[in-house]
Amino acid sequence: MSDSRDASRFSRRKFIHNTGVLGAGAVMAASPLGRSLAAASSKTRLVLVGTGIRGITFWGKSIQDNYGDVAEFVGLCDINPGRMEFARRHIGVPDCPLFGSFDEMLKVAKPDLVLVTTVDSTHDEFIIKALDAGINVVTEKPMTTTAEKCQAIVEAAERSKARLVLGFNYRYGTLFTEIRKMLGAGKIGEITSIDFNWYLNNYHGSSYFRRWHGIREKSGTLLLHKSAHHFDLLNWWVGSDPVEVHAYGGLEFYGSNHPFRGTRCTGCEFKDSCTHYWDISEDPLLVNLYVNNEQHDGYIRDACLWRPEIDIFDKMAVQIRYANNVQVSYSLTTYSPYEGFRLAFNGKLGRLETWEGVPSLMQAQQDQSQLHAKEMDQNSHTTEELDFHEIITQSNFGEMERVELPFDRKAHWGGDPIMMDEILRRKVAYPDLHHQANYRDGAMAILIGIAARTSIDEGRAVKIEELTGLTPQVDKWAV
Ligand SMILES: NC(=O)c1ccc[n+]([C@@H]2O[C@H](COP(=O)([O-])OP(=O)(O)OC[C@H]3O[C@@H](n4cnc5c(N)ncnc54)[C@H](O)[C@@H]3O)[C@@H](O)[C@H]2O)c1
Repeated sequence: MSDSRDASRFSRRKFIHNTGVLGAGAVMAASPLGRSLAAASSKTRLVLVGTGIRGITFWGKSIQDNYGDVAEFVGLCDINPGRMEFARRHIGVPDCPLFGSFDEMLKVAKPDLVLVTTVDSTHDEFIIKALDAGINVVTEKPMTTTAEKCQAIVEAAERSKARLVLGFNYRYGTLFTEIRKMLGAGKIGEITSIDFNWYLNNYHGSSYFRRWHGIREKSGTLLLHKSAHHFDLLNWWVGSDPVEVHAYGGLEFYGSNHPFRGTRCTGCEFKDSCTHYWDISEDPLLVNLYVNNEQHDGYIRDACLWRPEIDIFDKMAVQIRYANNVQVSYSLTTYSPYEGFRLAFNGKLGRLETWEGVPSLMQAQQDQSQLHAKEMDQNSHTTEELDFHEIITQSNFGEMERVELPFDRKAHWGGDPIMMDEILRRKVAYPDLHHQANYRDGAMAILIGIAARTSIDEGRAVKIEELTGLTPQVDKWAV
């Protein structure tokens, strides 16, 4: 990096090293049903429903490889038998029973914990059935895709003695945790507003439009599928519940906007002229998981980006007002030349900001296709081009201060193992930071997305209270 960035512009420079940050204060959770979902004595009996890429890599193989001493898979379930067979081999559990029926799996496998990694619009069925059977659940985000399903999950969670935890891994990341600590310590005083812009590059952004994610009925739109992560971070940083949302959105790049289209990249006649052509045959894992199992369910993993049935937004701008009066300006772009984000908090005593991947700030260009390959590797998620993250604060009428953290993009800013340790090893890195997300957190994150979607559809501001029976609270930790 240039010298101007390194020293002279800043009054103070502080380095925080991962081990120092995340090792601090690690404790064992008080009870198995406290923060941990692990079984009290023997290995935690796990079942997983949804043996797609997320299920078999991030949850399946990484648990088998790293938590085999405390957890064991006793069942895998999917509607695609071929994918399930491959999953068993990939995870490394050759004797694990396979189930086409979730009900049967619960009955036979008698799990301690259900992991839900199916298509977004189907999460509710498995969450509710597991909670009603008194079994703890960890679900992938988004918790679900409609207000009605959200209400049903909230009711199931409230009547069950079992717990529902959301896999909001971003919260645990080093950078995002450090921001939470600085805000909590009053670094910029009372927060009044936040600017948050997220950019998906052409590789990553387009990947959503090739898959089921491009269909609103399945993903709820990217306002839920993708932005749920960002809305959850906002809710967690602000510490209050959202009350009102106004949004704009459009579909102007993908789908029927393009002059030509095929059905899928494999064998496409426009292979040489399409800027977004993608060769799935170069990735053996995706071939084994999807291409080799198309005959079972007809799911095409490399579907055309320009197919007319795509009905989600590809540009989104969302305004959020919180119960404590904080207001947020958020946007999501799905066809950016680079991948990254800009984030700034305005407080009564000053401003805090950070960013990632913005070439003009990095004074370097990253290879976006390489970056995307790493993004898609559920266990790696790393890049070497940057060697730091920075958080810049400036007090009103004061000087800038810069906190530098080692660049940690691996495993979602280093957060994945911390989240997994909390779930399976009863190890809690920061007992006071409320890292673990419960059903209410899952609901509030998607309710912003559902409100934004409704706002775009109906051209009006939408109150969070109209959507479910949940009442927004000024202090979310008080609930
Ligand atoms: N936290 C993150 O960063 C992150 C990253 C990627 C994916 N995810 C989430 O993980 C989940 C899975 O994503 P993916 O990319 O692996 O999708 P995928 O399409 O590869 O896998 C989904 C699997 O669910 C199966 N399935 C669908 N309906 C089912 C049903 N009714 N019963 C049983 N199985 C069913 C499909 O056959 C498929 O094997 C999604 O909810 C997604 O939002 C989260």
